[in-house]
Amino acid sequence: GRAQFRVDEEQESTPIDDRLFGSFVEHLGRGIYSGIYEPGHPTADEQGFRRDVMDLVKELGVTTIRYPGGNFVSGYRWEDGVGPRESRPRRLDLAWHSGESNEFGLHEMRDWLDKLGGNELMEAVNLGTRGMQEALDLLEYCNVPSGTELSERRRANGHDRPFNIRMWCLGNEMDGDWQIGHKSAEEYADLANRTAVAMRMIDPDLDLVVCGSSSHTMPTFGLWERTVLERCFENVNFLSCHAYYAPRDGDMASFLASGVDMDSFITDVKAIIAASRARLGSDHQVFISFDEWNVWYQDAEASRSPEGIGNWPVGAPLLEDVYSAADAVVVGDLLITLLRHADVVHAASLAQLVNVIAPIMTKPGGPAWRQTIFYPFALTSRYARGASVLKSLQSGDTYETSRYGQVPMTDSVAVRGADGSLSVFVVNRSLDSSVDFSIALPEQDRDRQATVSTLHEDDPSARNTLEDQERVVMHARKDFRMDGDALTLQLPPISWTVIHLA
Ligand code: AHR
Repeated sequence: GRAQFRVDEEQESTPIDDRLFGSFVEHLGRGIYSGIYEPGHPTADEQGFRRDVMDLVKELGVTTIRYPGGNFVSGYRWEDGVGPRESRPRRLDLAWHSGESNEFGLHEMRDWLDKLGGNELMEAVNLGTRGMQEALDLLEYCNVPSGTELSERRRANGHDRPFNIRMWCLGNEMDGDWQIGHKSAEEYADLANRTAVAMRMIDPDLDLVVCGSSSHTMPTFGLWERTVLERCFENVNFLSCHAYYAPRDGDMASFLASGVDMDSFITDVKAIIAASRARLGSDHQVFISFDEWNVWYQDAEASRSPEGIGNWPVGAPLLEDVYSAADAVVVGDLLITLLRHADVVHAASLAQLVNVIAPIMTKPGGPAWRQTIFYPFALTSRYARGASVLKSLQSGDTYETSRYGQVPMTDSVAVRGADGSLSVFVVNRSLDSSVDFSIALPEQDRDRQATVSTLHEDDPSARNTLEDQERVVMHARKDFRMDGDALTLQLPPISWTVIHLA
């Protein structure tokens, strides 16, 4: 195959919000317990935070962390997770049929983020089993400086200064019938709107995220967004999108084109936001928070919760997908898609961070290592944070998929770094064709040094495991050509490549 890429220098670039490189930590499986938190681990600090995991999280380059769920939040009482450890209750977690020890809570999350480097906390409120009052209580506890019952309780619990949390999710996936306290669009729109208005009475300067659809294929997709926005438009800043991809019936050709679905999902939601804005005659802006996205093998054994009225294990292994090289290529493509929509996608969270459908895996008492999907995220974050997306023109060969019809074999995006550097991210989705890829270089980039690396394995099912932690890594390339106004290189089948010119 062949593909060409050219930056359209006539057009303005779009700044990329740092929040696009967020992730998500839920009380689920070993995400927290024996993931980021494991007292007694050889690398644990005085608070029980695994230093080896913290180092990898820093290397991954994640920004905002969404917390504490996920489906978990729809049954969560935030008060259980604050105050002296010895008096924190053990609870049922109905979402994952687990036990929750509450050893880790809000203060621990804030402390962990501070140790990482002050990453932003994006907090979700429970609109499943709870409602407006509990959301207001949590906001008072977090953001009011002092002098009230709940702000003083926070101070007594060791955090003198307010947490000052800006970004709040008004519940989680309330359109899904699996959600505890699942609601109709009308019921949810009403509750979310009233909660938003009241929260702003405490703190007017919040970024509120209202739930959109749990996937592009939800039966209520479109109508849900319209109903929610009709009621909440002026009082929210973000509408959420969630999407998980996996091969269906072994159809790898369609799976590798998952970016095509994410692209049309974003385009659809963008249109619905614009339609609501026009109908309401509003000059307010609502952006997309793509706050759960990843590859997830949902039918796999690893995603099942334990059963039984007496069986509520804390920190049991759940959703521990072991990602292949092909999965990493899809994740790289999803990042390209998010970047291309940086005008409307102002926040996103890779779901999730450690052990649970995660870029980082750990063994209790043992090592932590990078999954395959770690690499595209880390490199995209490294070069695209603080950068702007350039408008570009691409053309090239296509291939046939049963889910999406003819799709482009390659997909690519270019960003201009704050330091003037140019980075191009490109995926070759084809199962069997390599692609001759050429970039028409803007004049200012022709004398730069190029660093090129590719994620590709001849065996696309290759994985990183405890026994073989670096089976899949990025491969540095020297076999590209840069002559004058063009950079050319071959993209192997099922590959993701980054070209950085500095
Ligand atoms: O990330 C795993 C789960 O996926 C989340 O808890 C839920 O919001 C979504 O369905």
